[in-house]
Amino acid sequence: SDVKPTVTQCVGPVYRSEDQKPTAVVSTGVEFDTVTILPQTPQLIALLSIIRNKNTQRGDFIFYSNRIIRLLVEEGLNHLPTVEHTVTTPVGRPYGGLAFQGKICGVSIMRAGEAMEQGLRECCRSVRIGKILIQRDEESSQPKLFYDKLPEDIADRWVLLLDPMLATGGSAIMAVDVLLSRGVPEERILFLNVLASPQGIQNFATKFPKLRLVTAFVDQGLDEKNYIIPGLGDFGDRYYTM
Ligand code: URA
Repeated sequence: SDVKPTVTQCVGPVYRSEDQKPTAVVSTGVEFDTVTILPQTPQLIALLSIIRNKNTQRGDFIFYSNRIIRLLVEEGLNHLPTVEHTVTTPVGRPYGGLAFQGKICGVSIMRAGEAMEQGLRECCRSVRIGKILIQRDEESSQPKLFYDKLPEDIADRWVLLLDPMLATGGSAIMAVDVLLSRGVPEERILFLNVLASPQGIQNFATKFPKLRLVTAFVDQGLDEKNYIIPGLGDFGDRYYTM
């Protein structure tokens, strides 16, 4: 009932006619203008097809999910504020460009979110990165905050929150609550995510209407164990152990 129908579309560059393009299942759309879904390009769909495949071994899973994470970071940086910035080139001419405005930091939701730290470091030299550990409480089966280590001046920074999987949204919502409690304004948080469920997007984006979310793909739904379907299994297990 909560599982959305798949959207199958021709995928390829605009200059090819539809009958020259293969079809593939692309991301479900969403109604929130705070949510950006990466363009469903042949490259992205091919990368996702590798990491979704249960036969993909750990080395390839790491390599290809890192590729997708890099695409997410590159897109995410476009949502940070910039100011006009003119520089002088070596030939003595001015170039009217831009500079990023304000400091940033990363915050990963452990353990799977730590897999996204390297992609952020590759794009943002010597970026500060904090961590939040949230796990399901055995008794209440609700997410519980176990540990956090965040930059002291986090309230003065833009925060790139990192978690590859957005299932029910429980952990991500709790992580944002922690950031808000440290004085980070909602509109200065940017959530970077590889794969989301429609329910996760709905819960998260409704709770935080000023927070931007960038995801590579919104999937069909959740199974009875709250795994994303069709999904890719347990991201942390596949990245760190399997
Ligand atoms: N976390 C995962 O690693 N996989 C899912 O499908 C959902 C949450």
